[in-house]
Amino acid sequence: MAGRTVAVVGATGAVGQELLSVLDQREFSIGQLRLLASSRKNGRTINFRGKDIPVEAATPESFEGVDLVFSAAGGSVSKELAPKAVEAGAVVIDKSSAWRYEDHIPLVVPEVKGDDVASHQGIIACPNCSTIQMVVALGPIHREHPIDRVVVSTYQSVSGAGAGAMLELGAQSEAIVGGDDPEIDVLPRQIAFNVIPEVETFRPEDGYTSEEWKMANETRKIMHAPDMRISATCVRVPVYRGHSEAVSVEFSEPVSAAEVREILSGASGVKVVDDISNGAYPTALDAAGNDDVWVGRIRDDVSTDNGVVFWVVSDNLRKGAATNAVQIAELL
Ligand SMILES: NC(=O)c1ccc[n+]([C@@H]2O[C@H](COP(=O)([O-])OP(=O)(O)OC[C@H]3O[C@@H](n4cnc5c(N)ncnc54)[C@H](OP(=O)(O)O)[C@@H]3O)[C@@H](O)[C@H]2O)c1
Repeated sequence: MAGRTVAVVGATGAVGQELLSVLDQREFSIGQLRLLASSRKNGRTINFRGKDIPVEAATPESFEGVDLVFSAAGGSVSKELAPKAVEAGAVVIDKSSAWRYEDHIPLVVPEVKGDDVASHQGIIACPNCSTIQMVVALGPIHREHPIDRVVVSTYQSVSGAGAGAMLELGAQSEAIVGGDDPEIDVLPRQIAFNVIPEVETFRPEDGYTSEEWKMANETRKIMHAPDMRISATCVRVPVYRGHSEAVSVEFSEPVSAAEVREILSGASGVKVVDDISNGAYPTALDAAGNDDVWVGRIRDDVSTDNGVVFWVVSDNLRKGAATNAVQIAELL
């Protein structure tokens, strides 16, 4: 659809800014681009492909004539505006958690079940960043050897909590190095020189956080694996970009680390870096700024006959957010 009109809601945010660079890098065809944010950013312009485009306040009337909306402004904004955009005739690719658990809305990671896009009725949901990178690795393994159980611990960068959290890490680090008390505002505890086992809000009914609950439920929906048992512990670490995850998978029959390594070596979107004899394994810094899901430290789980353990790293703003959304648009 050359000449399509595209709107980005949340264009000034961490994901919105990355969306604009991914759209440009992937030479996504755009006739007209509308940049929308809160009314706080009125009067600001953002340069895209050599043109200064004004940032407008997003309202229910913003979508007239728009064909495609990337929605990256949070759940409550999406709940209000996405239906208005669909009424106006647009398809909405949504980054928030507002629509992910509705049965009639596909939740899509193109490498895993890309065909799900075809069932959309106007809105297509993108999973949470920590879920996306995990399922890109789990998907090809599960196709060959059905996975029974997953236990995952995450090490999530501050950009996963938005542009404000990135500023907070910098400001706290400077304050501490300068001998001042750090100010705590966006994240629940001091993040500089610390790790925080609280990503999003606690659920009183089971003690998990909503991020941990999302990783389990989104994975089951994306992979069409309603019976997969999943337990997650999500942790924020003082890293700017790139989430890391230690993943243990358990099968109903023995599967070796060598088999998993071979499957992942040929998997779409996965880059295996796994040569401990030469000290080769991926870190968040390796993944920052690119689209791959990097996997290393693949080894047999010594605590069970049927398990394999590995390390998964990806840039949460790229494959975990912007790139996944643009890949969905390309599928459309
Ligand atoms: N960060 C990640 O790694 C990641 C990954 C996957 C999914 N997500 C999801 O993506 C969404 C955006 O996250 P983010 O990290 O980019 O957050 P962010 O950096 O805080 O950006 C939020 C964006 O939403 C805009 N906004 C806020 N209130 C608005 C309103 N009432 N109307 C219109 N726009 C409004 C902000 O505009 P102003 O600049 O005007 O305030 C800004 O552009 C969230 O739902 C998040 O859960 C994030």
